[in-house]
Amino acid sequence: MKLEIYESEHHLALALASAVAGAIRRQPDMVLGLPTGRTPIALYGELVRLTCREGLDWSRVRTFNLDEFVGLSAETPGSYRSFMHQHLFAHVNLAGRHIGFLDGLAADVEAECDRYERAIAAAGGIDLVILGIGANGHIGFNEPAPALASRTHRVALEDESRAGNALWFGGDAARVPREALSMGMATILNAREVVLIATGEGKADAVAAMIRGGITTELPASFLQLHPHVTVMLDEAAAGDLR
Ligand code: PGA
Repeated sequence: MKLEIYESEHHLALALASAVAGAIRRQPDMVLGLPTGRTPIALYGELVRLTCREGLDWSRVRTFNLDEFVGLSAETPGSYRSFMHQHLFAHVNLAGRHIGFLDGLAADVEAECDRYERAIAAAGGIDLVILGIGANGHIGFNEPAPALASRTHRVALEDESRAGNALWFGGDAARVPREALSMGMATILNAREVVLIATGEGKADAVAAMIRGGITTELPASFLQLHPHVTVMLDEAAAGDLR
């Protein structure tokens, strides 16, 4: 794993936004895997600024988000689809048909997960997936468990993950849905390149275990050790346990 430590969240966001923009310029039809959460907000802000300033063209870019809550429509506040609309999709010239998203209202969950896997494969696979990490070591919504799912699947959320998402539900963890749909471990690990971003001291333990610990299903992010092309971008607080 390549490790990059930045003096602040802002510097990290600037560096990654500039790297993503460079990648889009080199490969205008690239396929991006995208995260939601507090951590990527600064990244999306910088990408939008850079897009306005430099006229970055997203018209051929395709995106697939990592996960979505079960039971929420795309328009419902708190859904990851609405988060992405607010922070990125509404501000760049991504074509609607190029936005891949799991449908939290799908009646047939298994068919929806299959559809997503097929859509990613039809796009030629993911070129670059950007990940956050949960304080419990999850990536996407692959939660610590005795066994991990390889492909897109339905998942029951841990209390810690629901608490981590309370922000999108008026600060009330009880309102966070109990289930989500998520890309699986192989869906993520099959991306040609992975960038994991983490900021704040709340992530320091999980980050250190991901880099220094053994590979274990109890810390799903540890499986990134098996991927040949991973960059971990941290602010100093998230890197605190590595010193
Ligand atoms: P956060 O979530 O950015 O809101 O901390 C990251 C994650 O759970 O993947």
